[in-house]
Amino acid sequence: METITLNNIEIPKLGFGTWELKGNDGVKAVRDALQIGYRHIDTAQAYDNEEQVGEGWKKSDVLREDFFLTTKIFREQFETKEKAVKSLEESLEKLKTDYVDLVLVHWPFPEYKIEQLIEPVLEAQDKGMTRLIGVSNFTVEQMQQAKDISDNRICLNQVEYHPKLNQQPILDFVRENGWGMTAYSPLGRGTAMDEGVIKDIAETHNKSQAQIVLRWLIQQDNVLAIPKSSNPDHIQSNFDIFDFELTTDEMDQIMQLRSENDRQVDPDFAPQWDKAA
Ligand SMILES: NC(=O)c1ccc[n+]([C@@H]2O[C@H](COP(=O)([O-])OP(=O)(O)OC[C@H]3O[C@@H](n4cnc5c(N)ncnc54)[C@H](OP(=O)(O)O)[C@@H]3O)[C@@H](O)[C@H]2O)c1
Repeated sequence: METITLNNIEIPKLGFGTWELKGNDGVKAVRDALQIGYRHIDTAQAYDNEEQVGEGWKKSDVLREDFFLTTKIFREQFETKEKAVKSLEESLEKLKTDYVDLVLVHWPFPEYKIEQLIEPVLEAQDKGMTRLIGVSNFTVEQMQQAKDISDNRICLNQVEYHPKLNQQPILDFVRENGWGMTAYSPLGRGTAMDEGVIKDIAETHNKSQAQIVLRWLIQQDNVLAIPKSSNPDHIQSNFDIFDFELTTDEMDQIMQLRSENDRQVDPDFAPQWDKAA
């Protein structure tokens, strides 16, 4: 398993996304993922599945200290610092753990100043509720503000990234500042793996198109990826990407597809996204 180290903490570059994985299916998917070998799980208050994620972990026999767990604080919780920290306490209870490894500010919600979003996660880290803190869906300018306000303690931005979306400005920032960039919707929710180039490369390596896309992501410096699946075969095959490497030329061919800028997640409260040159 390839890892990245942020603020002295090692994180598996491949994680398991859980958006829309609820009820028994959610419990089973998380248990399966941990049993297969994933050691990084991504959830959020807004997914309304933290309980199932906690239950899936408890059924897996994997020790808490042996996997990396992320959750995210959602919108109305940021009304006050106390409310946000309390919401994280509730998340920990649902997840059946004393701490998470990473807490993210889920979006740069426009009704709050960046300080109001960052201060609660700083406090959560001071209280030992989380080992690392980060942001999600922040632009480069907002990342710079978060970095300054937090005195370099914010160390990751989770954003949409796949072969059909160019995130070069964010990539440049994370590489210059030693941050991580987690690619969410890494398969473009199933829309970013069908290109001819990806098909050809998949045939060369005798791998699936999803495996090529995930390998392309984690082979990039500072990039992590959190594919989601409810299908046990996909959960397994998405994990089987550590026995081959893409050549520089293959990496470049997939990079060329990013010009389409095909975004899957763009709610009305999204920021003015950075434009790649
Ligand atoms: N921070 C944020 O604002 C934010 C926003 C969106 C997502 N996320 C996180 O990122 C995670 C992943 O993103 P996502 O769920 O939007 O999209 P995704 O992982 O790009 O795609 C999931 C879709 O791809 C399919 N799929 C998965 N593996 C496959 C395979 N090997 N072959 C064919 N199809 C495959 C899944 O169907 P099957 O179930 O049938 O396999 C599902 O329909 C989320 O679950 C969540 O944890 C974060």
